[in-house]
This record gives sequence, C-alpha cells and structure tokens, in this order.
Amino acid sequence: MNKLRIGICGWGNVATGLFRTLETNHEEIKKRGNLEIEIIVIGARRDNPECDPGNVTIERDIFKVIDHDIDVVVELIGGVDVARDLILKALNAKKHVVTANKAVIFNHGDELFRVANKNGVKLLYESSVCAGTPIIKLLNQELAASKISKISGMLNGTSNYILSNMEEGMEFEPTLKLAQEKGYAEPDPSFDIEGTDAAHKIGILSSLAFGSSLPPKNFYIEGVNKIHKDDFKYAHEMGYTIKHLAIAKSMKNSIDLRAHPSLVKLDSYLANLKGVRNGIEVETDLLGTLHVAGSGAGQEATASGVISDLIYLSDSKIKEVNNANESSELFDFIDLDFQYYFYIEVSDLSDVIDSISSIFENKGAGIESISQKENLNDDLVPIIIITDPFKEKDYQELVDNLLDLDSVNKIRSIRIEPQ
Ligand SMILES: NC(=O)c1ccc[n+]([C@@H]2O[C@H](COP(=O)([O-])OP(=O)(O)OC[C@H]3O[C@@H](n4cnc5c(N)ncnc54)[C@H](OP(=O)(O)O)[C@@H]3O)[C@@H](O)[C@H]2O)c1
Repeated sequence: MNKLRIGICGWGNVATGLFRTLETNHEEIKKRGNLEIEIIVIGARRDNPECDPGNVTIERDIFKVIDHDIDVVVELIGGVDVARDLILKALNAKKHVVTANKAVIFNHGDELFRVANKNGVKLLYESSVCAGTPIIKLLNQELAASKISKISGMLNGTSNYILSNMEEGMEFEPTLKLAQEKGYAEPDPSFDIEGTDAAHKIGILSSLAFGSSLPPKNFYIEGVNKIHKDDFKYAHEMGYTIKHLAIAKSMKNSIDLRAHPSLVKLDSYLANLKGVRNGIEVETDLLGTLHVAGSGAGQEATASGVISDLIYLSDSKIKEVNNANESSELFDFIDLDFQYYFYIEVSDLSDVIDSISSIFENKGAGIESISQKENLNDDLVPIIIITDPFKEKDYQELVDNLLDLDSVNKIRSIRIEPQ
C-alpha cells in the first residue's frame, strides 16, 4: 500500500470538500487507488464553520505548512501571486504540489514546471480544468500516442448554464442572477461571463496538447454577455444553437487559440450538453473524435481531481511528463476566416437590403442566406444574415460601415464554428 502525507493550504470550499471526501471515500481510495492519505497539517488563516478538522494540526500562516514532514503540498487558496510564491517555496523545498488553481498555472505554468523539474518533484493540476472531469491526464497520458488536431468545448459551467437558460427563453440578467443564487456564479461573475475562466483553461490544455507557452501570448477572448435570447430563436430556425466555446487548434506552424461564443449545429455533441456541465471534444488521428463531459465545478468534483493527482503521485513508477514547452507561436486571430451570423435591426426596409448586401460584397463577404423576420414591437425589423467565410480583419470595418447606414439601429454577430 502506498502512503502519502499531505498538507492542505487553504480552508475554503474545495479544501473542506477534499477533507470530507478523504474521510468518506477512505476505503475506496485504499482499495482502488492502493493509497493511504494522511492529512498532517492544514494551512487555514481562520476556522471554517462548515468543517471541523478534528485533531489535524492547523497553521495560521499557510507558508509554515511546507515546514512539516509531508510529501505533498495541496494548494487550494486560489489567486495568482501568493499561490505562485507558495508553490515555488514548496517545490524548492522538494515537496510535490497538487493544485486546483487554473489562474496560477495559466499565468506561471512554465516557470513552475521548470522549478519542479529542477527539484525532481511533480506539480499536478488535474482539477484546474473542469474540476475532476478527467482531461489533463487524458491528454498527458492516455492520448500520448495520438496526434491531437483540435480541442474545443464548453469549459465554463456558468456560461453554459446561462446560455442553456437563454435557449429556453430567459433573458441574460435574470439567468445570471439565478446562477448566482444557485452558487454557480460568483458574486462578481466577470471572470465567467467575460470568458476569462474558459480562456485560462483552454490555455492550459493548449500547452499540454500543442506546447504553447504558459502564459500564452494574448489571444482572442469574448464572453457571453452580449448574446440576446432572440439569437437562439433565429439560430434554431437555421439548425444552430449558441455555445461558449474555447478552442485550441493545431495549424501548420502555429496554434489557433481563442474563447468566444459560437454557433454550433443543433445535432452536434456539444450543442446537446446543457446546464452547468462542461464538455470537451478532442480530435485525434488514432482515436478519431473523443468526448469528455462532466461536472466542471463543486467541492466533490474538484476533490475527485485532487485525489486522482495524489493517487498518480503515489505511484513512483510513473515518470513525470515534462511540461517544458517549445513555445509554439499563436496564429494571428485577425487572419482567421469565419462564417458569421448577423442580427441587423433596421427601421426602414426601403433600399436597406441593397445597401447591406453591397457592404458585405465590398468586404468580400458572400451572403449564404438572408431573411427578414417578424417586426419588433416598435416597428423595427430584424434581418438575419449568414455569411460565407471572410477574414476576421475585415469584420470591424464591415460592422462600422453597416452602422453608418441611417436605417440600421443595432447589430449583433456571432461566429460560426465549422464542425
Ligand atoms: N470551487 C470550485 O468549484 C472549484 C473548481 C475547480 C477549481 N477550483 C479552484 O480551487 C481553488 C480553491 O477554490 P475554493 O472554491 O475552495 O475557494 P475559496 O472557497 O475562496 O477558498 C479559498 C481558501 O484559501 C484561503 N486563502 C486565500 N488566499 C489566502 C492567502 N493569501 N493566505 C491564506 N489563505 C488564503 C481562504 O481563506 P479566507 O477564507 O480567510 O479568505 C480560503 O480558506 C481555486 O484555485 C479555484 O479556482 C475551484
């Protein structure tokens, strides 16, 4: 039986969930993971009324956890700067580190992996992407023989929950409020709804699959906060729905990395994953397309990922996968071609269709379909256009030209992800 002595830093949601799961699933972990985990110390700057740590030693200064006789520091404080300092100190003290912290891995991954390698210890982070839903080890180990061409998916449960509700007819603001009431969204939801959280996760997956650096160079990030419930109605009529997709794709000599709302075919796998679930599609040469879906947040789900890292760590025969990256270049977003969905609200139909069509034509953007929808209450008329693919660099000028037309009142647009 393998044994690990661990110290937990942080005493919030995930840490207390881990503590409880290690108690309740003790026998399972022993039997199936061949591992006995002993919690030696907890770094908690204050007590948590949700959980009694029993006889475990408490350090009020989380950095003191590292000084104990432990094999692993489990970093569950979140944030970037203090977490980086803590992880660096632990690695330099030759302690393995397990973390659930996507922000610190995204921002300092390359540095931290280098220090881990230098010290001959491991830094594992399964639960940093999609909590315990297994994706990191899947990419690192199970798919080690496959060439991966594309990873795409809904990596933020809050965004997927909001969009799923909007698909059923709810407005954005009430569904965000509902997500907060149910505990799916933080009181300050900006990281989720502006796409940053999903961007962190796809950045991490891209580094694993394609060797992009951590942090990656700037890449395109857009959240779900500009989508309107009517966009679902119009998208459905054309056989699409809307998902927030994070995408990493291998190009000839670079990587296409981005996170933004996309129209996806209604009959696709990702279109049918609703609610807070995360779902990922991995395109490989040897296995074809793989699907992974599961809970992307929550105490138990995250504890599950942390424990899987501890079990992995305890098997000393497994060689550390070297995450030292080759720093592959990112493909310039503005040079990508996209098909687009456009919602254009006009006040006066006479001549406007011709003017709109010629603006698209001038930008080399063919129109695949155009349809006029039922008048809105105030006599505005929605026009829905699906374009042929055109260069992203022409997009902003095209929108500006459309808005220059007197009768154009409002424009929304969403890229279409080819499948
Ligand atoms: N919650 C999830 O579903 C989920 C899913 C996947 C990954 N994660 C990741 O797991 C990590 C922990 O998340 P969580 O939900 O457990 O957060 P949380 O409930 O806010 O807990 C954070 C804990 O760390 C402590 N802490 C924060 N900064 C500290 C500092 N500078 N010094 C000492 N203690 C500090 C906090 O203490 P105070 O209470 O005193 O502030 C609290 O005990 C994050 O990296 C998060 O991204 C969470």
